[in-house]
Amino acid sequence: MKKISLQPTNDYCPQTLFLYGTYNEDGEADFGLFCWFSYTWDKELGVMACIGGSKRTLDNIHRTKVFSANLVTEKILPLADYMGCVDGNKPEKMNGLNLDVEKGRVLAVPVLTASPVNYELEVKQFIPTDSGEVMLCAIRNVLQDETLAGEHASPTEKLAEIAPVQTTCERYFSWKGENLGAWGEPMAQFSK
Ligand SMILES: Cc1cc2nc3c(=O)[nH]c(=O)nc-3n(C[C@H](O)[C@H](O)[C@H](O)COP(=O)(O)O)c2cc1C
Repeated sequence: MKKISLQPTNDYCPQTLFLYGTYNEDGEADFGLFCWFSYTWDKELGVMACIGGSKRTLDNIHRTKVFSANLVTEKILPLADYMGCVDGNKPEKMNGLNLDVEKGRVLAVPVLTASPVNYELEVKQFIPTDSGEVMLCAIRNVLQDETLAGEHASPTEKLAEIAPVQTTCERYFSWKGENLGAWGEPMAQFSK
């Protein structure tokens, strides 16, 4: 394989997507879309997440030290894309949405019912960077759709059923690798 050198890029390195749920000061839920999310190991499984620039989600996390991370699946991609393209500091972002949101079982975080896997995360360490922040988080609880438990289907079948969305090259891809559109396109199918 003959290699070429490039400027920093993560093209062709697919990532999983999560909707981070936080509460605004007035108690309303806000959701933002995030892909800079991965795992750590320090005696137990943890999460590392990077937020670039200032945004409503980061302000809320600074205030509460907690957030939820809700796995993005093909079914909720139009909603997720909307949450990634509309600024949470604009009041119209969350106005008029008819979302099923429940409270975490362990932490006071908004959990998106339509997402089949949800982490309840507590930030243990904020690491400021030049233009953002890396957060090391403890996983205080994992919520999973009950149909993912049990032996009725293999992990392969369960993954195909929930169909997590992947992203790279500023596009979304289905679990099977089909093109689901560029960032900003699927939200056209989302109506309030
Ligand atoms: C596909 C996609 C992935 C994103 N991933 C991140 C990310 O990992 N980190 C980040 O800081 N912003 C990311 N964003 C941008 C945020 O979703 C965006 O700033 C959004 O407005 C955040 O929600 P909020 O304004 O309600 O806080 C991403 C946007 C898209 C469309």
